[in-house]
Amino acid sequence: TWTMLNIVEEQVEAIRAQIGEGRAICALSGGVDSAVAAAIVQRAIGDRLTCVYVDHGMMRLGETEQVRRDFEAVFDTLDVVDASDQFLGALEGVSDPEEKRKIIGHEFIRTFEAAEERVFGDAAGGSTAYLVQGTLYPDVVESGGGAGTSTIKSHHNVGGLPDDLQFELVEPLRTLFKDEVRQVGEQLGLPPTMVWRQPFPGPGLGIRIIGEVTRDRLDILRQADAIAREELTAAGLDRDIWQFPVVLLADVRSVGVQGDGRTYGHPVVLRPVTSEDAMTADWARLPYDLLERISTRITNEVREINRVTVDITSKPPGTIEWE
Ligand code: XMP
Repeated sequence: TWTMLNIVEEQVEAIRAQIGEGRAICALSGGVDSAVAAAIVQRAIGDRLTCVYVDHGMMRLGETEQVRRDFEAVFDTLDVVDASDQFLGALEGVSDPEEKRKIIGHEFIRTFEAAEERVFGDAAGGSTAYLVQGTLYPDVVESGGGAGTSTIKSHHNVGGLPDDLQFELVEPLRTLFKDEVRQVGEQLGLPPTMVWRQPFPGPGLGIRIIGEVTRDRLDILRQADAIAREELTAAGLDRDIWQFPVVLLADVRSVGVQGDGRTYGHPVVLRPVTSEDAMTADWARLPYDLLERISTRITNEVREINRVTVDITSKPPGTIEWE
């Protein structure tokens, strides 16, 4: 629509005025918000924007490759950092959900600071360093930045940066809602896999393994998750479902029987939800035949999993993620 085009043109002008001849850096998560924000900034300043994507080793099956393919086609300067050893090493022996988040957040900042060094060099001492963020209007409101609103919670995009990161923020999506961001993304010609990707948490599969995060457990969950997503897509339900986490109960074992043999494996939980904004959510009534296909395939194809369950809790009282 013409209004979305106007927004892009307006933002491009504003960003040119803000950044001038300076350089900017953007952390791409793989999600639509950071991708659209970066695409707008690239329009404004070209290759003076550097995009950084951190592979922390907890992405889904084939996801980093997909992101790399999609993003390399769109962005001139893309820095893919493989930091999986660093992240998984730091998570060794850790089961507590908040502890996991703290460690992952800390490693993100370390990785990003190293990228910042590479991009800005010693320029940080003189000229301003610009950081592009995909902050949306609801993020601004939630963090108390909107006119006449009070602080509900501090969103990680807005209030969560450490004080000693000396950046000036560039936030071209601050007035938009998610559906508008998707319109802008389509308008800019970004690939559908990018524009329509379901939300995925920054800590990735790390908060979908109940228990310690190990490479073996990640492999098991990746296989189950890939089957669930493949079948959801095949059923044509991708866009009706807000998110579809698959959770591995790694510290729980369950008895099963396969052929003549007793098995002692792990359960997974399917957590399909519908939502408008993730603040509240309802459990999705997936068709029984789809659930059956997913269950049969997971227990046949993933040796360590012998039981598939469905989470039928709304939010509240449950959250979307299990951790
Ligand atoms: P919950 O589980 O709180 O999740 O209902 C609401 C939305 O936020 C996502 N989520 C996260 N995103 N870092 C993120 O970037 C996190 O630590 C995190 N925890 C939850 C979740 O996937 C859902 O979209």
